[in-house]
Amino acid sequence: MEKVFIQLEGRSYEIWIASDSSYQSALSGVLPSATSAVVVSNTTVAGLYAAALQELLKSHYPNVDLIALPDGEEFKNWETLNIIFDSLLKNSCDRKTVLFALGGGVVGDITGFAAATYMRGVPFVQVPTTLLAQVDSSVGGKTAINHPLGKNMIGAFYQPKLVICNLSTLLTLPIRELRSGVAEVLKYGPIADMDFMVWLESNVEKVLAGDMDALAHCVRRSCEIKAGVVAQDECESGLRAILNFGHTFGHAIEAGMGYGVWLHGEGVAAGMVMAATLSHRLGLIDESFVQRLVALIQRAGLPTRGPILDAGDNAGRYLELMRIDKKAEAGGIRFVLIDGPGSAVLRTVPDSLIREVIDACCV
Ligand code: NAD
Ligand code: GLY
Repeated sequence: MEKVFIQLEGRSYEIWIASDSSYQSALSGVLPSATSAVVVSNTTVAGLYAAALQELLKSHYPNVDLIALPDGEEFKNWETLNIIFDSLLKNSCDRKTVLFALGGGVVGDITGFAAATYMRGVPFVQVPTTLLAQVDSSVGGKTAINHPLGKNMIGAFYQPKLVICNLSTLLTLPIRELRSGVAEVLKYGPIADMDFMVWLESNVEKVLAGDMDALAHCVRRSCEIKAGVVAQDECESGLRAILNFGHTFGHAIEAGMGYGVWLHGEGVAAGMVMAATLSHRLGLIDESFVQRLVALIQRAGLPTRGPILDAGDNAGRYLELMRIDKKAEAGGIRFVLIDGPGSAVLRTVPDSLIREVIDACCV
């Protein structure tokens, strides 16, 4: 098992990366003590992995319950959050109850938000089962639900006590979901680590084929980069925003198409091309770097062009959706731009240029 440490004042924790059940013997002494644990999952993942996790947790907690939420981004909302609260209250779960988020980013984000707010905060552990969740969403403490007007608009920064990435769970992941996770992996090179981008240029097919060594490297390096950024700027007052490379366009695509139609990583992939194109048109990077990124995204089987969100005024619809982005400020929409290979900056951009890029980058 490999470990990545995330250093935060009073809230540090470890990310465990294992390819089998070898991590289980290390759990004693690390898990928060309580009389109750609740595994929060969804109907798909619960059928695959909940029984084993519940069995394991029974040697640490007297009561272990399961909540299986409906599966899908379209259920990352208040109604689903209330399913968790209803169940916790009906089962008299106290303020020490430990929640275990077993699933992808949707389960992780919603369970984290439930943990942040139930009885003003209970401990939680992330057990991510998608590549996207193992390389990104389970790490760093962003928790949220969607609002019909904008993605992840209701939420809290709330750190887990531990993150357990069991790479073998990725073997049951549908290939489209694996590709979606690769999008979040691909962002780390352009914003922070060109060596990682070069490694991906040699290994992306191995990652997609489920090669355990490639997956282990991919998850570990992604978590290391993310842990380094989050340790410097936990609540995104500045630097952390670079992790949203491609997300301003991507979130507009997800919301504009209807949650769940484009996967998160698919929106991010097309969004990275748009953000890189914007960077190039601002003179921050060469055209060749945009093409290099496009080539890698294509090899990962991800979209490199955005969808048409409005046949009348497509760019206008993107702009309308992007103004709700959390990075938007009074001065306008702020984009994560690449200002050289392995380096990112945050900038506001005139609407006319954004329109140009949307027109050039949508199908
Ligand atoms: P997801 O949670 O919807 O999971 C994808 C699909 O795979 C689901 O149908 C799920 O049931 C299924 N699944 C999960 N694990 C499986 C397994 N091992 N085998 C078979 N099927 C499995 O999607 P996701 O891509 O994991 O996460 C996307 C979400 O993460 C979005 O809501 C996004 O906003 C959020 N996100 C959050 C952060 C953060 O920092 N908190 C970062 C990135 C993304
Ligand atoms: N996924 C972006 C972040 O955690 O900040």
